[in-house]
Amino acid sequence: MRALVLFATAVLGASLGTTTLAATVKPETAVNYRQGIYHAILWNFVPMAQMVRGMRPWNQATFAQGAARIEFYSQQLLGGFPPGSLTARSEAKPAIWQHWAEFSAKMQNFENASATLAVVARSSDQAASKAAFIKTADTCKSCHDAFRKE
Ligand code: HEC
Repeated sequence: MRALVLFATAVLGASLGTTTLAATVKPETAVNYRQGIYHAILWNFVPMAQMVRGMRPWNQATFAQGAARIEFYSQQLLGGFPPGSLTARSEAKPAIWQHWAEFSAKMQNFENASATLAVVARSSDQAASKAAFIKTADTCKSCHDAFRKE
C-alpha cells in the first residue's frame, strides 16, 4: 500500500511537473529564445564565411573561437522547439513537429558537424578548417530547405 501511494505520488508529481513546465513556456518565449541563438550563431558564422571566401584575412584564432561558440550554441537549439511553439514572427514550418525524428536528425547532423569543425579549427590546418566549415554550412542549408519558411 505504501509502495503504491509512493508510486502514485511520483507519477502525479512527474506529470504535474511536465504540465507546469510546458505551461510556463509561452510560444513567443521559445521563438525569441531560438531566434536569439540563431542570431548568435550568425554573428560568429559570417566572419568565418568571409575568411573561407577570402573576403577577410585568415585568422585561425578568430576562426577557432567562432567554431567553439557555434558548437556550444548548436547543442541548445533542439530544446527551443517545444510542440506548438509557432507565432506570426516565427519562420519555423509546422512540419517540424509532424516529422520530429527527421528534424532532430538534421539538428544532430549540425551538432556533429560543428563539433568536428571546432576540433579541426583548433588544429590550425587552414584547408581542413575550410572543408569542415563548408560541411557545417551544408547542415544549416539542409535543415532550412526542409523546415524553415522562405
Ligand atoms: C535542424 C534545423 C536547423 C539547423 C541545423 C539550422 N537551422 Fe537555422 N533555422 C531553423 C529554423 C526552423 C528557423 C526558424 C526559427 C523560427 O523563426 O522560429 C531557423 C532560423 C534561422 C535564422 C533566422 C533567425 C530569425 O530571427 O529569423 C538564422 C540566421 C539561422 N537560422 C541561421 C542558421 C545557421 C547559420 C545554421 C548553421 C550554422 C543553422 N541556422 C542551422 C532550422 C535550422
